[in-house]
Formats: sequence, structure tokens, C-alpha cells
Amino acid sequence: MTKHPVIIQGGMGAGISSWRLARAVSELGQLGVVSGTALDQILARRLQDGDPGGHMHRGLDRFPFPSVAERIWKTYYIPGGKPENQSYMSLPKHSKDNSRELIELCVVANFVEVILAREGHDNPVGINYLEKIQIPHLPSIYGAMLAGVEYVLMGAGIPLKIPGVLDRFANHEPATYVLQVTGAQEGDDTTITFVPRGFTERDLPSLFRPKFLAIVSSNTLALTLLKKANGRVDGFVVEGPTAGGHNAPPRGKLQLNEANEPIYGERDRVDLEKMRELGLPFWLAGGYGAAEMLRKALAAGAAGVQVGTAFAFCAESGLRDDYKQALLKKAISGEAKVFTDPLASPTSFLFKVAQLEGTISEREAYLARPRICDLGFLREAYRTAAGAIDYRCAAGPVTVYVSKGGNAEKTVGRKCLCNALLANIGHPQMRSGKYVEKGLVTSGDDLSGIRCFLPPNRSVYNAADVIAKLLNG
Ligand SMILES: Cc1cc2nc3c(=O)[nH]c(=O)nc-3n(C[C@H](O)[C@H](O)[C@H](O)COP(=O)(O)O)c2cc1C
Repeated sequence: MTKHPVIIQGGMGAGISSWRLARAVSELGQLGVVSGTALDQILARRLQDGDPGGHMHRGLDRFPFPSVAERIWKTYYIPGGKPENQSYMSLPKHSKDNSRELIELCVVANFVEVILAREGHDNPVGINYLEKIQIPHLPSIYGAMLAGVEYVLMGAGIPLKIPGVLDRFANHEPATYVLQVTGAQEGDDTTITFVPRGFTERDLPSLFRPKFLAIVSSNTLALTLLKKANGRVDGFVVEGPTAGGHNAPPRGKLQLNEANEPIYGERDRVDLEKMRELGLPFWLAGGYGAAEMLRKALAAGAAGVQVGTAFAFCAESGLRDDYKQALLKKAISGEAKVFTDPLASPTSFLFKVAQLEGTISEREAYLARPRICDLGFLREAYRTAAGAIDYRCAAGPVTVYVSKGGNAEKTVGRKCLCNALLANIGHPQMRSGKYVEKGLVTSGDDLSGIRCFLPPNRSVYNAADVIAKLLNG
């Protein structure tokens, strides 16, 4: 029987659960999970920042096809880092027919993140993806599997077709993924294909088929996945509406309270008895970052808990230090506030936002940002009148969105999460030397709770402090 971890450190994009955090957690025998979101951009930017510490170089050195790794190094590495007021290189946005270069970058970036998280110990490491960000899935998963990832976790959508991809990639066989295209008609070609052998330079032994954990917000969705997935589902993370990151909206029509936050009701409660009946291990997430909550989860039949917020603010997380310190201070003083924003994300999901000066959680800072869409991970694919596939983002320029058939009302309050999340981890884009992208921090509702992980007389805490507290109280 597989022995599963009791604590899963939640995947936190982009780059918050970096290789460093996942390694620290896995070293201690729990499941460290790297975020697989936007790793291509993150690797390219780390290299343009001069690869401090030489970690990317070390990861690239271990890639099985040196010529590919070398091409990436030569394209992006800037010795000593780019000047501060210079922009990062712009990469093409992901589209159904991605260039070979972008596909290579995805494979390699996912490989590097996982291989670094696996350094120095023999314990499993996982990777987290958002189903919504569909186009990079295939090369990303293949790259992570080349590095020996042991768990793939996926939420923010219904990942029915991922288990089969894992089966095929274990034998280096081609896999496909059908892109969701708004307005697609029968006969449209919406299938993305990745052929490992068109990419590898020599034959490789079979790869480990990672365990697949689907992140769900209801027992009904868990059942659907079990019945309809195209391969083995190994377990579930059951995530409630207090969790950080994107949240599933309440069932039925969206209703807001006076503070403009969604109202969840009885229908949103997960039936744990039904979860147990499914017979697969499950972990509870969303406000479970405390010893008594772990005990409660185990008593309810869960295999353990998935915890995000507590790890997001520890020393090893990728969140930049000034944001980390400022939010820790607010948590200590009791001023931490988190808003479940129904509009911020250009996707149909809600997004939790920690209120913090200097980020686009402030109205003036949000309004002052030029609406530019140059990363495009959250773009919606749609069918044009001519039958082609094009892409639009509700957080991009309003005129462009409307010219692409989007409804102007849908652009109100939308925030460019792509640029903000890269700014959160210290890689903000600089625009014409004048405007620097600002961050937007997400956190679970229990942001104040992070203060309890601080050891006496210390202003930072480590992943080990979180794990000790969860296990020992
Ligand atoms: C900063 C942050 C980023 C997150 N990003 C992701 C993500 O990219 N994908 C995902 O599945 N969950 C994401 N989450 C959710 C966590 O993986 C985890 O399930 C959740 O935080 C658990 O609830 P807690 O925050 O109350 O501990 C994120 C959470 C945080 C705090």
C-alpha cells in the first residue's frame, strides 16, 4: 500500500511554492509541492536576473538533453543580471500552436523546478497545475515527469483528461489535450498534441507515473472525476472556500454580502461521509493549518491536510520579502484583511486578495496600471467569425477585449494576475523604464493565524516551524 504524507504543502502560484519551499517540506518527510504555473516565464526571468546562487544553472545541467538546456541558457542568461530599469524580454504568449522554443522552455522549466526540489533527499515531490491554464499542460507535465515528480495535483477546473496523459507520458507516448474554446463548433480542431519522441534526442527508460490528486470543492465533483476520468485518480484534495488562491464560486446564483463577498451556504458543504465512501485517500484544505484542525481532519477519515497560507509566508517561500514582512506585521497587529474578490481574476473563479499598500489591491494603484496583456496565461480561447481560434483576456485593454467579441461589463475590476503574480516573487516587468508592475498577494482567510508560527523573538519562521506546529501543536 502507498504510504501517503499527512501534510501536503499546497501548490502556490506563481513561484510562491518554489523549489526551495517544496524541498524544505519534502526533506522533512511531508509532501513539498512546486507550483507549475508560469514556470517558463519564471525560469527566463531568473536567468535574466543573472541566476543568483547558480541554481538554475545547476538544474539545467541535469537536463537529459544538453543542447536544449544550452539554447535556453544562451537565450536568457544575463551575467550579473539585467539593469533594473530594463524590461525583461517578452516571450510569445501561449497559443494552441506554440513555437518549438516555447514548448522547450516549458519542458525544461518544469524539469528544473522539480529536480531542484528533489535535491538532497529521497522523499516525494509534487507539482500543482491549474486546469484552466490549459495550453502549457502537456510539455509542462512531461518536463516534470522527466525530473521524477511523484504527485501531480490539479484544481481550478475539472481535470478529467490528465490521468491518461500521465499514463502515456510514462512510456514517452504522444498525448493530446482538448482546449476549451468558447463558441467552438463541431469539426473545429481544438486538440493540442505533444509527441515526446519528437522532442527527446535519444531513447529514455520509462518514467514513473505520478499519482494524480484532483483538487475539488465538492463530493459530487470527486465522484464525477472517478467515473469519467480517462485514467487512474489516486486521491483528492477537498478545498473549502476559506483557502487561499482561486476559490470555486458558491453553487447556484452568485450572491454577495454587504462587503461584496460571495455567500456560501449549506449546498456548498462537502459531505465527508460521501468522500469516505469513495474509498480513496483525501486531504482537507482551507483553514486546516493548525494542529487541532489536522486532528479533526484525521478523525473525519482524511489522510491529512493540505496547507497553503502558513507556508506562503515562511522564509523559504518565493514571496518577496517586503510583502512577506508587511503582511506578517499586519497579522501580528491584528490588522490583516483578506477580501474574496468576485471580479479580480479574469477566469470565472473568485480570487482571495490580501489587502496591502503598494499592491494593486489598492484602488488607486489598480487604476494607475496601464491595461496591458503581455503574458496571457489566463486568456480565454474563442472562435472567431472566420472559424479560427483567437484569445482574449478580460483584464487586458477594454477596446481589444470588446473588438474580440467580449462584453465590456466583464472587464470591470479585472486584474492582471499574470503580471501581479510575477511581481510578487520579485520579477516585476518594467515598462519603458517608467512603470513597474505591482504585486497582488493572495492568502487564505486565516492570514492572522500565521503569527502563531513565529518562534519567540523572531521576525521570520521556517517551513520546519509550520510542520512542527501542525504535528505537535
Ligand atoms: C499564495 C497562495 C497561492 C495559491 N496558489 C494556488 C495555485 O496556484 N494552485 C492551487 O491549486 N492552489 C493554490 N492555492 C491554494 C493552496 O494550494 C491551498 O489549497 C490552500 O491555501 C489551503 O488553504 P489555506 O490557505 O487556508 O491553508 C494558493 C494559496 C495561496 C495562499
